[in-house]
Amino acid sequence: MIDIDNLYKDYNGQHVLKGLNIRIKEGRKTTIIGSSGCGKSTLLRLILGLEPYNSGEIRIEDQPLHRMNETQLNQIRLKFGMVFQSSALFDSMTVGENIALVLKEHTKLTDGVIKTKVLEALNLVELRDTYYLLPSELSGGMKKRVAFARAIIGDPKILLFDEPTTGLDPITSTTIEDLINTVTQKIGATIVVVTHQISTILRTSEKIIMIHDGVAIKTEGPKKIMKSKNPLVYRFVNGIVEV
Ligand SMILES: Nc1ncnc2c1ncn2[C@@H]1O[C@H](COP(=O)(O)OP(=O)(O)OP(=O)(O)O)[C@@H](O)[C@H]1O
Ligand SMILES: [Mg+2]
Repeated sequence: MIDIDNLYKDYNGQHVLKGLNIRIKEGRKTTIIGSSGCGKSTLLRLILGLEPYNSGEIRIEDQPLHRMNETQLNQIRLKFGMVFQSSALFDSMTVGENIALVLKEHTKLTDGVIKTKVLEALNLVELRDTYYLLPSELSGGMKKRVAFARAIIGDPKILLFDEPTTGLDPITSTTIEDLINTVTQKIGATIVVVTHQISTILRTSEKIIMIHDGVAIKTEGPKKIMKSKNPLVYRFVNGIVEV
């Protein structure tokens, strides 16, 4: 579904990805972990074709991204739902308008049908009373849940989550983790979750990949990762500081 071969990316000569290889299978839930600044958010932006990369290849359903023009990229992006690390809601739009945007722009659904769908999505994230609020009136955790509702509204084939639970209280985290599992099962989406949070790693992953020094390291699955035989992975998930 998403194939990444020998991917290199730098920012002004600072090498972030240095020959990354990742296979993301259709219908599976893949989690990407790695220390702050290792390039996780960068990777998600590259997958969405939002930034160019230096070399290597990203293929979405066997189509190489670097061969696509902007129109083709926009077609591909419609397959995706994305929850950005910063939530990235439009400040001047209400919650309802933020979530409705993709349906307004890319479907012929009537305003009434769109409103019903938006309220359903808000219901799912337990925020039904926020429809008319502005993002500035929400807490950080509420913004994340609105971003979640926005990401799933178009029934995407692939959902990318950048730190969906970071900074949320344990109960809200569990709600989001359960939603990742139930909603994605319902819409049959392929999931990529970037997270540091152990509860999210353990609850939502089928496969876990660690990015370290610009390359991908395979790890044990969620059942065994806390006892990983790879010292890098073991130290990361157990929060052990190297001395
Ligand atoms: N637009 C940019 N311009 C210059 N450097 C950038 C840009 N975006 C990211 N970087 C650099 O690339 C590296 C990877 O950043 P990225 O945001 O992908 O890390 P991350 O793994 O998502 O970290 P975190 O866990 O803190 O979110 C960092 O060193 C960062 O400073
Ligand atoms: Mg990040």
